[in-house]
Amino acid sequence: MSFDLSVNIGKLHLNNPVMLASGTVGYGNEISEFTDLKKIGGIVTKSISLKPRKGNPPQRIVETSAGMLNAIGLANVGVEEFLTSKVQFLKKIGVTLICNIAASSVEEYVECINYLDNEDFIKAYEINISCPNVKEGGLIFGNDLKSVGNITQKVRAATPKTIIMKLSPNTSDIKNFAKIAKEEGADAVSAINTLVGTSFDIWTRKPKIKNITGGLSGPAIKPVALAKVLEISRNVDIPIIGIGGISTWQDAIEFIICGASAIQIGTINFINPNAGVEILGGINKYCEQMNIQSISELTASYQI
Ligand SMILES: Cc1cc2nc3c(=O)[nH]c(=O)nc-3n(C[C@H](O)[C@H](O)[C@H](O)COP(=O)(O)O)c2cc1C
Repeated sequence: MSFDLSVNIGKLHLNNPVMLASGTVGYGNEISEFTDLKKIGGIVTKSISLKPRKGNPPQRIVETSAGMLNAIGLANVGVEEFLTSKVQFLKKIGVTLICNIAASSVEEYVECINYLDNEDFIKAYEINISCPNVKEGGLIFGNDLKSVGNITQKVRAATPKTIIMKLSPNTSDIKNFAKIAKEEGADAVSAINTLVGTSFDIWTRKPKIKNITGGLSGPAIKPVALAKVLEISRNVDIPIIGIGGISTWQDAIEFIICGASAIQIGTINFINPNAGVEILGGINKYCEQMNIQSISELTASYQI
């Protein structure tokens, strides 16, 4: 039996709903040795900023129960090097490319898009307004409805390509952020970025992460992420890309049932770099077993 796993989000076409999440696969080169990137629906780059960033000083990552805390601080090569070297590699592989952008001002988001927009290989932008690990931008934007509306409006006007606003779970009412993103012209939202967390060494009484707090990711956050996806799905008519603790194909299906059109996998890539392909295999089998003709039938098919 043949069924359709493809997903369309605005002008973005994905062959299947499995994407690799920003910051967990760099620009694709290292992971490409361990998995077949061509099979993946899409790859989202590490957040790219106008100028290169060194990020925060170490220690930047620490393991927690069923998850990890990171405070990388958006270390990246900047738009120029990304275009001249990193994109070329991904072109050779032929994977659908979504560029994640971070900035410390509205103007900088737009400047980044202006710089990147002529590159046809970039199919969509995911706008990071939800990084908990930087002083400027990040959550200052992501927690403020007016800022999210203003950024969405400006990036929308800057490009005809698909715009995905990446929302923060560190708010009490994520649906309002999805609503304003839709009103200002975003094609989709992705949910969620990491949750603010911390961890202390009981002997030194010092934080295990130099930045004191970091972003919690991995299986520990899955129920929170799922609830946020459901909240958006029940209140706002906008495509959702579900992210947060997805480690198995069952997790992915759960997100799709709760409202996601596509999903991204993050922390699991550090444990099993072939997880995306394996999750895709499981989704395939599930669709076959459940006699599903098109994956879009499953989106928001919850029985509440
Ligand atoms: C080490 C690390 C770095 C990350 N860097 C970024 C980033 O640069 N931009 C971004 O939007 N999200 C970033 N994220 C967040 C992930 O894309 C994802 O939203 C989050 O980890 C939840 O998914 P997961 O539980 O599957 O990892 C990062 C996550 C991790 C673990």
